[in-house]
Amino acid sequence: LKQKYLGLIADASNEARIEDLRVQALGKKGEISLQMRELGKMSPEQRQTAGPALNALKDEINSALIAKKTALGDAALDARLRSEWLDVTLPIRHRPQGTLHPISQVTEEVTAIFADMGFAVAEGPQVESDWYNFDALNIPGHHPARAEMDTFYMKRAAGDDRAPAVLRTHTSPVQIRSLEAQGAPMRIICPGRVYRADYDQTHTPMFNQVEGLAIDRDVSMANLKWVLEEFFSAYFDADVKTRFRASHFPFTEPSAEVDIQCTWVDGQLKVGEGDGWLEVLGSGMVHPKVLEAAKVDPTQWQGFAFGMGIDRIAMLKYGIPDLRAFFDSDLRWLRHYGFSA
Ligand code: PHE
Repeated sequence: LKQKYLGLIADASNEARIEDLRVQALGKKGEISLQMRELGKMSPEQRQTAGPALNALKDEINSALIAKKTALGDAALDARLRSEWLDVTLPIRHRPQGTLHPISQVTEEVTAIFADMGFAVAEGPQVESDWYNFDALNIPGHHPARAEMDTFYMKRAAGDDRAPAVLRTHTSPVQIRSLEAQGAPMRIICPGRVYRADYDQTHTPMFNQVEGLAIDRDVSMANLKWVLEEFFSAYFDADVKTRFRASHFPFTEPSAEVDIQCTWVDGQLKVGEGDGWLEVLGSGMVHPKVLEAAKVDPTQWQGFAFGMGIDRIAMLKYGIPDLRAFFDSDLRWLRHYGFSA
């Protein structure tokens, strides 16, 4: 019996087989257990020799089972360690890492600067009704601004006789949507894509604007000037002066175009120095008709709005001469300007 089991245990190749053998030999109905039960029927003399012999056998088989089980476990662990082993010194396969597009980077930068001044971010749809894009902003149907903006019109389905939807030509419709949704007071910026049918070195049919809107009981052009100078100084990391020139937008009164101070040094544009001026945005005090369209009482509330080209201020900061390059997805270009690894 001893030889039989020791042989079987030695041959066992996995832990399940060991368990089988344990049951076969030492289980309730195991071969050795049954023999132990026979002891009761034996004479005292027989028992005196058979008893200790059987106990010794039982212990020996038990130890052999445990030893083998441990050995099998160790072997399994070794095998796993071997198969899961990694050589951390091997060279890795190079995987080029992407980065945020420069426009996204600049948008984040702009958003962070205005956030420090208490402006929240608002968004609106890029496919816009002509009411939000024009009428609510005091640009009626016959107004020349509609033609000036080179609007892309969307085709309505046959039988739908509403005025055609448009690709928003500016971020100003978000002023209306935000005021409608939340009312005054309000302090927001609205970054996003806008569309105009135009294409040359400084114009692409899709470009990016950021709108600013601050509505409260007592907001003035002076607040606007302070906010913009704070913004440009933070963005260009220089002390940037602004110049306001009287202008006209249907949705602001008075209106101003804003220039930032700059100069050219060795063919490089330097913002915040010299006596040159560069136009960067349109702005003004929100027209009472615009507040009315957005269900805000113009006798109680007033405020300023501005809209500036994100791509344009990105070009200025990074010295990029051609706007179109932003949208060419040319990796060499992105790398050249340090926008990609
Ligand atoms: N919406 C104007 C444009 O796109 C910019 C602007 C915004 C002007 C807000 C005044 C106030 O040109």
